[in-house]
Amino acid sequence: MLSPKIENALNQQIELEGSSSQYYLAMASWAETQGLNGVAQFLFTHADEERMHMLKLMKFVNERGGHGVVPTLKAPPKTFKSVQAIFEQILKHEILVSSEINNLVEICLKERDYTTHNFLQWYVSEQIEEEALARRILDKLKLIGGERGGLYLFDRDLEGMTGTEKAADTAK
Ligand code: FEO
Repeated sequence: MLSPKIENALNQQIELEGSSSQYYLAMASWAETQGLNGVAQFLFTHADEERMHMLKLMKFVNERGGHGVVPTLKAPPKTFKSVQAIFEQILKHEILVSSEINNLVEICLKERDYTTHNFLQWYVSEQIEEEALARRILDKLKLIGGERGGLYLFDRDLEGMTGTEKAADTAK
């Protein structure tokens, strides 16, 4: 059984994962309007992954006798300055998510809720990958430096990549 404190903290994380999904979805849609189909596809997939993170938390809360609440979300931005700006925002956002996950882990230890602590380890590992991926992509974009031909190839590179593949490829 979850304590009200942990249930509340997990529901806050549900909201954060849901808003991450909406945020990346807005980025994906904007990229598609710019003809950046590879970037768009990457971001649509990323938005789906965030929704999965939200659902995984919701199901855990419900299984443990709590109630995973569907959050009210603020509308994300409609437009973005550039592809580089998008990935800078993703990195910043993922650093925030990591810090919230770390806070959650700390609350679990204080409350001696080792079951939830164990469940959260998946998110701890996922955050390492998410931050690393955003950094690798940003490094690539910095190398390109706004050059159009480079951006075209970058866009093509991102097309059709999934999860771990994305991480492996961008590490090259
Ligand atoms: Fe679910 Fe990207 O944090």
